[in-house]
Amino acid sequence: MDIKHICCIGAGYVGGPTMAVIAQKCPHINVTVVDINEKRIAAWNDEDLSKLPVYEPGLDKVVEEARGRNLFFSTEVDKAIDAADMIFISVNTPTKTYGKGKGMAADLKYIELCARQIARVATSDKIVIEKSTLPVRTASAIKSILDNTGNGSEVKFQILSNPEFLAEGTAIEDLLDPDRVLIGGDTSTAEGKKAIQALASVYANWVPQKQILTTNVWSSELSKLTANAFLAQRVSSINSLSELCEKTEADVNEVAKAIGMDSRIGSKFLKASVGFGGSCFQKDILNLVYIAKTYGLNEVADYWEQVIIMNDHQKRRFAHNIISTLFNTVSGKKIAFLGWAFKKDTNDTRESAAIYVADELLNEQSKVAVYDPKVSEEQMYADLDYLNTRSSEENREGVSVFNNPYEACKDAHAIAVLTEWDEFKTYDWQKLYDQMQKPAFLFDGRGILDTDALEKIGFVCYKIGSGKNPEI
Ligand code: UDX
Ligand code: UDX
Ligand code: ADP
Repeated sequence: MDIKHICCIGAGYVGGPTMAVIAQKCPHINVTVVDINEKRIAAWNDEDLSKLPVYEPGLDKVVEEARGRNLFFSTEVDKAIDAADMIFISVNTPTKTYGKGKGMAADLKYIELCARQIARVATSDKIVIEKSTLPVRTASAIKSILDNTGNGSEVKFQILSNPEFLAEGTAIEDLLDPDRVLIGGDTSTAEGKKAIQALASVYANWVPQKQILTTNVWSSELSKLTANAFLAQRVSSINSLSELCEKTEADVNEVAKAIGMDSRIGSKFLKASVGFGGSCFQKDILNLVYIAKTYGLNEVADYWEQVIIMNDHQKRRFAHNIISTLFNTVSGKKIAFLGWAFKKDTNDTRESAAIYVADELLNEQSKVAVYDPKVSEEQMYADLDYLNTRSSEENREGVSVFNNPYEACKDAHAIAVLTEWDEFKTYDWQKLYDQMQKPAFLFDGRGILDTDALEKIGFVCYKIGSGKNPEI
């Protein structure tokens, strides 16, 4: 089957960059990315490439090359669905905030709406691909909707699962040179195999064949949850040891290096931090926990839930360390945050540790001053408002946002590093020190700064997982 038209529903952090790369690498395929959010689509179409709604290194170049040639961004969802041979569903699947499975299960309402819309609009056969991370067996729900709610025409649908493994901040690199591409489909029928092949041949335009794996749908869906659960577990594991290191004279970076050289363990994803964030890790683990509980597998559920419990503890512990180090009160004190994004090189803030640390400090009546190179002020307030801990006005009163780090840190009692942006390492730390209240405290939640050098300037430093932290 020769694919000529691709439609992607959802122009977010996954849909946007993924389709941009497909369009760049497959000039013979027309790729249309649609979204119901008009502002977002307008931003994707903005002449000024610095206004793209997703910040990713290298994304602007890819969009510049393909946009208007074979990459289009539009709000005309129905039209794009009908014209496509292949439809990617890349809409958001947040954790449910209401009803059964509240706080655990994925909310599939956006996915279901998409499936119903495709069924209503389609007049020719379609390959429908789930790209959003979903609980195992969602493909069968999509299939049931597509097969039973049609518009009366004899349209046939094939459902594939094609989870996305890109990490934000390195999305373009990851898409251009993926460790693997995973395609799950109906391996028991000829039509199913044909659909798998059609998608594999799109990727084969730039991904070596041996890196394209095909499995049944359930294995593919579960692999995505498992990959994220394993990665998050590594972070929680090293973070749990960071606390032990702080109580002993061990150094978590030395421990990480020593264990990472064991090829069975590997060196990646062993960086102790203030806690993992991002749209996937927590949501996918909660999903896994919920599914396990649904099947009565309580030990399995408890095992994975511990990864989240540890992560919540790490974020809270960091905030409480600040409070106790500042003589048990931060009331009225300015605490400067360097970084708000959940990791460097992205403007995404979903589940960022910074939000939760700020929330704890605001509970203690601290004045939080934030600088982040890419996150907007509006986004920071929206993140805090979403927690519903206090009123919107109180959040605005407690948090001020700066577009200059030196201003943010002026007169502060402490600086806390929440994101590992490279530029933080290059600041004039003497200048920052000179402008601060004394003693000038520094809390490095990412272990990126040379705290020995900062201590020579006069800072009192706390570094995650260091046995040399000041006694508190
Ligand atoms: C272990 C460590 O590997 C080694 O570095 C340390 O010095 C001593 O402890 P050992 O216990 O001899 O070595 O064997 P290992 O290969 O680690 O296996 C331990 C157990 O885990 C075995 O029962 C093995 O069957 C099991 N295992 C290992 C699995 O069930 N699955 C695996 O994928 C790997
Ligand atoms: C993750 C997966 O890596 C990716 O494959 C999947 O498609 C989506 O979820 P992402 O959330 O974008 O990607 O970023 P990732 O690099 O995995 O980082 C997640 C969080 O873990 C960040 O907050 C990061 O700072 C933190 N982290 C990561 C650590 O604290 N230490 C580490 O060693 C690695
Ligand atoms: P992700 O990180 O999974 O890409 P985002 O929240 O960044 O998640 O993007 C998902 C996008 O999907 C949003 O821009 C949202 O407006 C869009 N979306 C959700 N439901 C629909 C729908 N039914 N039709 C079109 N777009 C949708």
